[in-house]
Amino acid sequence: MDSFIQNLPKVELHLHIEGTLEPELMFKLAKRNHVSIPFESPQEVRDAYQFHNLQSFLDIYYQGAEVLIHEQDFYDLTWAYLLKCQQDKVVHTEIFFDPQTHTERGIAFETVVNGISKALKQAEQELGISSQLIMCFLRHLDESSAFETLQQALPFKDKIIAVGLDSSEQGNPPEKFKHVFQEAIEHGFLTVAHAGEEGSAQNIIDALEMLSITRIDHGVRCADNEELVEQLAAKRTPLTICPLSNTKLKVFDTMQEHNIVDLLRKGLCVTINSDDPAYFGGYMNDNFKAVADAHSLSKQELAQFSINAIEASFIAPYVKEDLIAQVRQCIH
Ligand code: HPA
Ligand code: ZN
Repeated sequence: MDSFIQNLPKVELHLHIEGTLEPELMFKLAKRNHVSIPFESPQEVRDAYQFHNLQSFLDIYYQGAEVLIHEQDFYDLTWAYLLKCQQDKVVHTEIFFDPQTHTERGIAFETVVNGISKALKQAEQELGISSQLIMCFLRHLDESSAFETLQQALPFKDKIIAVGLDSSEQGNPPEKFKHVFQEAIEHGFLTVAHAGEEGSAQNIIDALEMLSITRIDHGVRCADNEELVEQLAAKRTPLTICPLSNTKLKVFDTMQEHNIVDLLRKGLCVTINSDDPAYFGGYMNDNFKAVADAHSLSKQELAQFSINAIEASFIAPYVKEDLIAQVRQCIH
């Protein structure tokens, strides 16, 4: 199964670029930018990655991002992730970034976008990896800050395909952002949102209705509402599920208890993704392997995760067909 997973062409749809900051790069950038970090070594950083819920992770994740200052830092971060994509046979990736994590520290929006975009362009040319960029609003901040961020994004509209919503789900429901999502749609952005990770199935319903999203990030709590599960299956609404993230943040206690395979077999368009791989212990292949190790899956079912991701992606329809054909070839 490991070699089947390795050779399977993959599409990633749920990846926070700030969550790919490996401890070694964190140290390198801290030194280069004279930022002090409360750790003595990369190993000490890794040892600190013990999380009991989403918030305990977010606190460390936002702190880690403070070493990112210059355009070159965002380029280095993104390029390192794209080399992991090459290793894991990820042929297309749709990357989240959190502008407010940086603009709140006085880093210019353009510094962030230009650094990331430069690496994405190089990956297309040199590695044959295609990509899209999704800008997430931080839901623990207020809607006016999201509006400000949307304004800052307008000059870079050609580089950003969609807006998303991440950070602390508890206490920050989709409703809080319905006006800014409406305005983003009027400007031509597509929309996605984290919903039903730690929050309720109702957050999924509200995100679909109030934010007009075309796919749901996480969404595993849909299982609490049978009617919703049936609706998601019937409409083939995509869910970007992150198995190692969910066990690390105790959304599920064990991978055996994870509901991704159950949802797959109920006909939902579920996909496998790495979320914040530097923090959760694995990139795409590790996530596929973790699911395959804990559940009895056929090659056909593993390939279906890839086919679902292609279907759920923002790739042009004619390219989708070509990619699906490549995946099908792997099964035989
Ligand atoms: N959930 C919410 N916010 C996040 C996540 C996540 O999985 N990763 C990075 N920011
Ligand atoms: Zn996420």
